[in-house]
Amino acid sequence: MIRKFFSKFINKMSKSLAIDLGTANTLILTHDGKLINEPSVVAIQENNGSKKVLCVGSEAKKMLGRTPENTYAIRPMRDGVISDFIIAEEMIKHFMRLANSDKGLINPKVIIGVPAGATIVERRAIQDAAKSAGARYVQLVKEPMAAAIGAGLPVSDPMGSMVVDIGGGTTEIAILSLGGIVIAESCRVGGDRMDSAIAEYVKNEFQISIGESTAELIKTRIGAATLPPGAEDKSFIINGFDRVSGAPKRIEIKSSDVVKSIETPLIEICSRIKAVLDQAPPELASDIAESGICLSGGGALIKNIDVFFNSRLGLKFFPADDALMCVVKGAAKILYEMDDLKLESEQ
Ligand SMILES: Nc1ncnc2c1ncn2[C@@H]1O[C@H](COP(=O)(O)OP(=O)(O)OP(=O)(O)O)[C@@H](O)[C@H]1O
Ligand SMILES: [Mg+2]
Repeated sequence: MIRKFFSKFINKMSKSLAIDLGTANTLILTHDGKLINEPSVVAIQENNGSKKVLCVGSEAKKMLGRTPENTYAIRPMRDGVISDFIIAEEMIKHFMRLANSDKGLINPKVIIGVPAGATIVERRAIQDAAKSAGARYVQLVKEPMAAAIGAGLPVSDPMGSMVVDIGGGTTEIAILSLGGIVIAESCRVGGDRMDSAIAEYVKNEFQISIGESTAELIKTRIGAATLPPGAEDKSFIINGFDRVSGAPKRIEIKSSDVVKSIETPLIEICSRIKAVLDQAPPELASDIAESGICLSGGGALIKNIDVFFNSRLGLKFFPADDALMCVVKGAAKILYEMDDLKLESEQ
């Protein structure tokens, strides 16, 4: 009784935070609706062997590929999990401080999305980093579950729902029913792989080298998964240097070029979706055939991606509303509204 009262008191005095610690972006949603949405990038300056955090988030992202000798812009998350523990901890600390700036007498309780395929070691690293960054209690939730809840799919119902969350580093594919994940697969192909495919294409076709930020800009501005007959073939101008002569060069890249360059990663995602569907029990497969497959994450914003998947797999695909927010919104819902729901979240 006293313990219950004390824990209620602590919850009132501190903020709870829902966190989507993504390879590309970190989102934090507080229970009063404050949103932090920043790239998962940290800029570090090194002086005589000691390291100092220069900036975190969008300021640091602007520095990617543009830093002087003793400065590094680092992405501490790779493939949805921590690749640089110390930097990740600094980044989480910075974002938690931003989210908790107007409260925070007591350290917050947090819920964090993790890839369904993350290993015990990878999950433990995320928990430890959040605790070192100041979290009082850390709950983990599998990202496809959070994405499905955030997208508004009826995950608690006795029927199959399917979500494909295409992030920067990973694509999470899952079939859910009765508040649990029935089958899930994490595939380490996402927006980053598409960016490198675009950079590779530009290098081979136009003989200029571009960085990952320019490739991402091309993808988000004019990218498409397919161009149906009559669709506009948009163009984008890139300024660079000829790889052979070194002379300045200006080229025009078109949506149809992006379609060709990202076909391979998209086909890879398609085959993983098919592999998950092949394992689905018949009843759930028929529910999914009827309701369609929900696309979330930043990759869901690629123009005509639903058309591309539909033409290859013959099933209906539909993008979630607010695709980039699904994981954080779902995690927040679990944290703030679904206390007593049977969910496969982990402590
Ligand atoms: N309009 C857009 N068109 C195409 N791609 C986009 C668009 N907006 C964002 N993206 C891509 O979405 C990806 C980021 O999505 P998201 O924020 O869901 O990833 P993440 O959660 O950080 O990564 P992960 O889930 O793999 O850890 C990036 O590759 C980005 O380039
Ligand atoms: Mg994600």
